[in-house]
Amino acid sequence: MDVTKNNHRVIVALDVPGREEALALARVLQGSGCWLKVGLELYSYTGPAMIRELKALGFPIFLDLKLHDIPTTVERAIRGFVQCGVDMINVHCSGGYDMMARAAHAVQEEGSKLERVPKVIGVTVLTSMSEIQFNQELGIQRNLRDHVVALAKLAAQAGLDGVVASAMEAREIRRITQPEFLIVTPGIRPTWSEAHDQMRVLTPFEALAAGSSYLVVGRPITRAEDPRQALERLWLK
Ligand code: C5P
Repeated sequence: MDVTKNNHRVIVALDVPGREEALALARVLQGSGCWLKVGLELYSYTGPAMIRELKALGFPIFLDLKLHDIPTTVERAIRGFVQCGVDMINVHCSGGYDMMARAAHAVQEEGSKLERVPKVIGVTVLTSMSEIQFNQELGIQRNLRDHVVALAKLAAQAGLDGVVASAMEAREIRRITQPEFLIVTPGIRPTWSEAHDQMRVLTPFEALAAGSSYLVVGRPITRAEDPRQALERLWLK
């Protein structure tokens, strides 16, 4: 079996505190077919210049800044990020229908000028939030799982291309959305990796079987002695 054939569905989370560390990892992974995820940590050190540098190395880029603001501000920020060349970007679904619809519209309009329309996906409920926090701190009476699924439905109605969701929620979201709706799943751990601080983990194969479209994998690859080999070993059963 060609174990590299799924690499285009792997998004490696470059959770490192600077440009040099990010580029070192990117060079090792270059040519493998995987995506790279730039999150708040790396972005806080490098700004958008990093996106252009990683794109120049040939990677599709998921910019994971989880935008959440009034619709006009989100729309304008998204236009800027599309011009930077991102291939995927995300917003918080709890920003509401109008914010998501405006984000989807901005991506479409700005992307078509560049003849390359990126994907825009929604964050439902952070997986770091417990059911108790959700109900008691936020005062939301709905069951957390039902809330996640309802937000995913709203995201689809607003025209987003997909959502970030744990593999545990993927099955339910897949059931209520169209097959092309993207489900991007963190919390992936191959059998040979430790769990780190992730509570509910699934293997890459289990996540794909649950309906995930893309797998976000960080430490099992980025902290490996040989990150390239770790990427290839994701697909070993
Ligand atoms: O190292 P690890 O594989 O746990 O990294 C997972 C990545 O996915 C991190 O960048 C983390 O911030 C992100 N993420 C997550 N859970 C979510 C959303 C994003 O672990 N619900």
